[in-house]
Amino acid sequence: MTNRLFDFGMIGLGVMGRNLLLNMADHGFSVIGFDKDQSKNEALEQSATPGTTVKGVQDLEEMISLLQTPRKIMMLVPAGKPVDDVIESLLPLLDKNDVIIDGGNSHHTDTLRRVEYLQGKQIQFMGMGVSGGEQGARFGPSMMPGGNAEAYELVKPMLEAIAAKVQGVPCVDYLGKKGAGHYVKMVHNGIEYAIMQMISESYSLLKHGGLDNTQLHEVFKEWNDGKLQSFLVEITAEIFTQKDDKGPGYLIDVISDKAGSKGTGKWTSQDAMELPVAVPAIDSAVAMRTISSYKDERKLASTLYPDPYKSSPASTQEWISHVHDALLFGTILSYAQGLAMLAQASIEMEMDIPLPKVVNVWRGGCIIRSTLLEVFSKAYAKDAALPNILLNPELAEMVNSAVVNTRKVVSQAALSGISTSALMASLAYFDSYRSEKMPTNLVQAQRDFFGAHTYQRLDISGSFHTEWGK
Ligand code: 6PG
Repeated sequence: MTNRLFDFGMIGLGVMGRNLLLNMADHGFSVIGFDKDQSKNEALEQSATPGTTVKGVQDLEEMISLLQTPRKIMMLVPAGKPVDDVIESLLPLLDKNDVIIDGGNSHHTDTLRRVEYLQGKQIQFMGMGVSGGEQGARFGPSMMPGGNAEAYELVKPMLEAIAAKVQGVPCVDYLGKKGAGHYVKMVHNGIEYAIMQMISESYSLLKHGGLDNTQLHEVFKEWNDGKLQSFLVEITAEIFTQKDDKGPGYLIDVISDKAGSKGTGKWTSQDAMELPVAVPAIDSAVAMRTISSYKDERKLASTLYPDPYKSSPASTQEWISHVHDALLFGTILSYAQGLAMLAQASIEMEMDIPLPKVVNVWRGGCIIRSTLLEVFSKAYAKDAALPNILLNPELAEMVNSAVVNTRKVVSQAALSGISTSALMASLAYFDSYRSEKMPTNLVQAQRDFFGAHTYQRLDISGSFHTEWGK
């Protein structure tokens, strides 16, 4: 067994690394993992399916010597310096054309730097986003590789074997040059933030309509059978059934409202500003997680600023269907903003991100999987270069129908003092995006007034400056 040459190596045997390896082994590949922590090597071997070839070692050199060439190695270690440290420790051990995949949540600029650095050393490097959490890694993740295209061909059979499948199609594909894999995963997470925020806003709106946890469960469960079918709506329905094991009642009611974050949502907003591309749904979601941490200030402010008069929504059934449409509208707008960001970034950074493939890869295995992605897939099949999916006529029909009730929900929320930041921001984005004429002519006039920044005219070409008031 020790002399056997293994198909694939993993560095870092935390739960994600271990589960990906076990998944590969279940698909007939012989796999070897390296972790300094011997208990993780043992956990890997002990959890292997009988009859599969799985080995854990504590010595990196040993793992490298046991891999078939060109070697295929993935690392799942914390983003940042640990990734660079692993690369440096690997370099003296590798041969020309060996492949290293960084499967963590690295920033795309780091990935680009590493692709270029390793190109010079004739080592093939890929940054790959992996989505789907622990269960996904074990039984079918969505994977977003980018970087070296030839390297992808070498690992493609393995990645396709372990990926989630939708109608038999694996949720993995080559998603572009340079740092494209991690860029796509970053935007995936930005969309994840926006949709999660909108689901929590819908929860708040439905509670305002008088629904208890049992009814909330039923509503989200029913929504998951329709146009809103998605992993996030599905788990939301389940959350409302969970009883508290430390007291009476439901767990959701005793969970603190301070939300954490690891930073990929913030990165998406920062990068969007940098491009620039407007992603207000994602910006709002990031801001709301930040405001959620101001618990003490919010407590104080709640005594100074009472709730406005709570006008109640028409009928419960009507309210539920209005909130449904608002969430559908908001979810479409979250994808639209994220995908428009990818379209623009791909051009600006010359990454050649294939958007039709991105939506196909997101259809299964990942956190933002949903049936809406089928609609987007059809839109891109018609026009792969769409700058924004809102420009697709079939989707426009869906949006035009959902926006009617979205306006009612957002107005009611404003009147009742219910914060619906991401929904409101997306409605404002939509109303601006669909306006041939915006009021920003006045902004131009102001800029020219105080700073001589010049402006363009609608009727004559060129740049103009006016001595205002003279
Ligand atoms: C995934 C998730 C995963 C992780 C998020 C959480 O696709 O499997 O996106 O990567 O759950 O990074 O992010 P926050 O901790 O920032 O919410």
